[in-house]
Amino acid sequence: MKTDARMDREKAKELLALIDSASATSSKASELRQRVAKLLNQFPTYNWVGIYLVKGNSLHLDAWSGPAPTVHTDIPIGKGICGWAAKSGRTEIVSDVSKDTRYLQCFMNTKAEIVVPIHHEGKVIGEIDIDGDTVNAFSSLDREFLEAVASKISGSSVP
Ligand code: SME
Repeated sequence: MKTDARMDREKAKELLALIDSASATSSKASELRQRVAKLLNQFPTYNWVGIYLVKGNSLHLDAWSGPAPTVHTDIPIGKGICGWAAKSGRTEIVSDVSKDTRYLQCFMNTKAEIVVPIHHEGKVIGEIDIDGDTVNAFSSLDREFLEAVASKISGSSVP
């Protein structure tokens, strides 16, 4: 696996264009989220990708793509890195999950995680959660790129 193939501006632009075309050709919002999860998971450092939606006081797993399912399909707001990001409304980048006491483990091989809230009209309505198999897998470019993806799918993810 190419773990050195990190995000750069050119790759971000290409992926955003693919997401725009998925958006134009998906007939349902749930189908778009599934396609986006799959597209993101094809990126070498995005080893597991999930899209959670806020339901009441929890995050509910709506779409995912990766080698295995997670047991964390419902996460209370405030719990784990996911719940933390949903509560604060801010992107969380954890370079080394073994050093973060908030971390809820899903997979033995996960080393880093990025969680990007999906906002709509000032509220968090969901988030994109990505696990990486290398320490320090995510940079500020991943943050910038995934925040753009979150804003592209926010309109179609409103409850
Ligand atoms: N690690 C997350 C839980 C979700 S799994 O990564 C799919 C967390 O700490 O909130």
